[in-house]
Amino acid sequence: MSEIIKIEDVTKKYGDFTAVDKLNLDIEKGSFFGLLGPNGAGKTTLISMLIGLLKPNEGKVFIMNQEMNRNNVFLKKQIGIVPQHINLDKDLTVKENLILAAKLFKLRGKKREVQIEKLLDYMDIKKVENRMARKLSGGMKRKLMIAKALIHSPEILFLDEPTVGVDLNARRKIWDILKIMKDMGKTIILTTHYIEEAEYLCDKIALMDKGKIFYNDTSENLKRSLGKYTVEYFDENKVTKYKFFKDIDEAKNFSNSIKENFILRDISLEDVFYNFTNRKVT
Ligand SMILES: Nc1ncnc2c1ncn2[C@@H]1O[C@H](COP(=O)(O)OP(=O)(O)OP(=O)(O)O)[C@@H](O)[C@H]1O
Ligand SMILES: [Mg+2]
Repeated sequence: MSEIIKIEDVTKKYGDFTAVDKLNLDIEKGSFFGLLGPNGAGKTTLISMLIGLLKPNEGKVFIMNQEMNRNNVFLKKQIGIVPQHINLDKDLTVKENLILAAKLFKLRGKKREVQIEKLLDYMDIKKVENRMARKLSGGMKRKLMIAKALIHSPEILFLDEPTVGVDLNARRKIWDILKIMKDMGKTIILTTHYIEEAEYLCDKIALMDKGKIFYNDTSENLKRSLGKYTVEYFDENKVTKYKFFKDIDEAKNFSNSIKENFILRDISLEDVFYNFTNRKVT
């Protein structure tokens, strides 16, 4: 597969503070790429540079072999964006929000109508098409934001924490839609604090902290880098500790030596993240 996004030595500073630090990354066409990291890791800053909203202080971003910048109209048409913060016009209805988004991409007439109907249906928001955006539930707002991002059928979709505050049912519905997008051959870049979301959806996961990506691999390989089993236990000071094992017998032997309560379980992606950053993602 060929890379659709190439990030070369990209740095972004806010004053003296380096939010993204000489970052290099390739994202393959058609892949579902997950970007995980604690608050302040630099995820949104990185996405903002990928979509041409922020200019790197150093380095370059290439999408489809063209350099991304805010004036690249061709590339702007290739990407759909679901930002971290709600970007709806709250005094317009659901349908009006979509019409407005369509106008920005010069979609008109029958084509526009068909596309909007398709997205209302897809995102399961047809029944609220005449409701003001401000009166939508959190989950419906997120669905409408995704519909907006898809209005011009982009090749690449950027989603910055698209399921924050969304209940489990709505989240699963969003996951289904994103899977369909992936099956259609779209490239998807997702940031999330929900590790199970990344594990379920993404074929590649990058772990980011302090402006750098320090791991970039499949979820399976990330887990295998630590082992296969986790023993989670209280030490003598009642502090939760984690120990990782490749071999189940070694894990059992260790568990038997612990006086306090313990859990022996399969290793999770959360363990990997916790181990590398020494803090929880959320
Ligand atoms: N406009 C700005 N001016 C100054 N500092 C900023 C600005 N935007 C972000 N930062 C800082 O840059 C760092 C990275 O922020 P960013 O929003 O990229 O993190 P993030 O990984 O998206 O975090 P979160 O998970 O909370 O969304 C943070 O320390 C943040 O405070
Ligand atoms: Mg962010």
